[in-house]
Amino acid sequence: QDPRIAGISSAIRVIPNFPKPGIMFQDITTMLLDTKAFKDTIDLFVERYRDKNISVVAGVEARGFIFGPPIALAIGAKFVPMRKPNKLPGEVISEEYSLEYGTDKMEMHVGAVEAGERALVIDDLIATGGTLCAAVKLLERVGVNVVECACVIELLGLKGRERLGDRPLFVLVNAT
Ligand code: PRP
Ligand code: MG
Repeated sequence: QDPRIAGISSAIRVIPNFPKPGIMFQDITTMLLDTKAFKDTIDLFVERYRDKNISVVAGVEARGFIFGPPIALAIGAKFVPMRKPNKLPGEVISEEYSLEYGTDKMEMHVGAVEAGERALVIDDLIATGGTLCAAVKLLERVGVNVVECACVIELLGLKGRERLGDRPLFVLVNAT
């Protein structure tokens, strides 16, 4: 394992019982305060994706917006925001996905990407995988090739990775 991972992992704060009893919240905001850990996080993604011919980094609102843009700039790709409903002003395509209670929608601007482009999908964390799956589906519906999904943290035990099927998922830190 890369020696930088331990520092990243220890900079992530775990807050028990947030947002509700029984949940161990993985708080990346403390990692953002640690300039080495934040830089190491971005560097590790950039080192992995810089030579993969990726033209699009798609970041999932809200926390995917923290990690996506610096990676996109460093690898020379465009950044495409995958947003919560009714936020994007132009024509959108949308994908419904399930939450613990009920459903939500994710939207992407039509014309932001073209068929045949190669994309990286980025978020801070994968839990059930519903969020990442919705982002992947939006891109695939318009003919984009999702090269990989990447997260800082994978919550093991929720089978999020299985939900992605055979699409590759790269994570820096495992949590339970
Ligand atoms: C969190 C997290 C991921 C998602 C993972 O986002 O940032 O995007 O949940 O969960 P899943 O794998 O079960 O879909 P959240 O929707 O809480 O909101 P935020 O990013 O806007 O803070
Ligand atoms: Mg999120």
